[in-house]
Amino acid sequence: MNLFKAPRGTADILPDEQPYWRYIEGRALEICRLYGFSRISTPIFEEAGLFLRSVGEGTDIVSKEMYIFKDRSDNEMALRPEGTAPVCRAYLEHGMDNLPQPVKLFYFADIFRYERPQAGRYRQHHQFGCEAIGDQSPVLDAEIIHMALSFFESLGLTNFSLQLNSIGCKKCRPGHLQKLKEHYAPLREQLCDDCRIRLEKNPLRLLDCKKPACQSAADLAPKSADYLCPECGRHFESLKSYLAALKIKFVLNHRLVRGLDYYTKTVFEIQPADGGSQSALGGGGRYDDLIAMIGGKPVPGIGFAAGLERIVLNLKTQNIKVAPVERPAVYLACLGDDARAEAVKVSAVLRAEDIALLISSGERSLKAQLRNANTAGVRYAAIIGGDEMKAGTVMVRNMETGEQQEMRPDELVVLLKDAK
Ligand code: HAM
Repeated sequence: MNLFKAPRGTADILPDEQPYWRYIEGRALEICRLYGFSRISTPIFEEAGLFLRSVGEGTDIVSKEMYIFKDRSDNEMALRPEGTAPVCRAYLEHGMDNLPQPVKLFYFADIFRYERPQAGRYRQHHQFGCEAIGDQSPVLDAEIIHMALSFFESLGLTNFSLQLNSIGCKKCRPGHLQKLKEHYAPLREQLCDDCRIRLEKNPLRLLDCKKPACQSAADLAPKSADYLCPECGRHFESLKSYLAALKIKFVLNHRLVRGLDYYTKTVFEIQPADGGSQSALGGGGRYDDLIAMIGGKPVPGIGFAAGLERIVLNLKTQNIKVAPVERPAVYLACLGDDARAEAVKVSAVLRAEDIALLISSGERSLKAQLRNANTAGVRYAAIIGGDEMKAGTVMVRNMETGEQQEMRPDELVVLLKDAK
């Protein structure tokens, strides 16, 4: 029989990898405390319609990548392909519009996209995301961008750039889209198949195409920032002035449109120097129409999300060391049935004193048990045999020096606490 494997594009995160994840989560929690964000968790699946209406039917995420299925009551459901729409759904469902605005929420979420797996691109990945809902001021755009950059810096990462653009709003975007169509129409024959469809259905996406044949057309295309209405123009100018005040450098990237349809005004990505938008560490933007798209009254919002697998990848390539997993302090070895019962009792005494330990089942030779202790990386082994049982003691062996010393369990507690 063939052995089962993790599904293509997914990965097990084994114990050796966990320190990276714990490190990233710790920094994320710290950043959220500093910027006043509270944690939210939403279900791993939602009604598919939530994403059709917000992320958009013309996006790759919805049209090609969403894990969509009918449940046993024939409801159309989707595994979460992104985290923003579910948070906005929860904001509406729980009447958070009655709270002081903006409501600032963060999450860690498993995200599912049926993509072609490659380095840093998975079918199930993990995001740390933040959403600030209920305020349209560009101050908040600057704050979110500052927060995203501070997060990556706090991880020790260097060598990344902030890519920034404004894609306007429903008032000014039609003018830009018209110009895009006029620019692309004579070039139609040289475009890839996807771009020909984009030209009809979703011209903004043309700018995002990664195919070499479409690059020059996209580079020379009309820029959204040149077609902003006065309000979007002022918003973008204010944002840039706040970024200057914060000494944040950015690259104005007119081809940055992001892969989700709900964005308005500000969009941004954080890209490692040696990759493109395909390897972005994180991205986000403003979504002032999203809540209305999913049935609420208009409420503005802005947020960003970072891909944790991409961060782990970059921590490794940049050789950033993270604290290893804490090893148990002691390994309890025992010889014979009676000693085994005694070891179980001693283990309870030590754990009640907050001492992490491993206990052997004692069914192997002492030599084999000590070998296990060595592999586990403990500093001490405590051995219980017949003599120790009679004396109510344990034989404590320093695994590094091999020195042994007999002592009572309460003395072992003191030794281990001092060694911490
Ligand atoms: P996104 O750019 O689609 O944005 O995803 C955010 C980040 O998740 C990316 O920058 C990347 O680091 C990571 N990521 C995306 N797809 C994959 C994948 N297949 N494998 C590994 N990592 C991946 C959003 O999802 C928006 N909801 C972000 C946002 C929050 N906008 C406003 N608020």
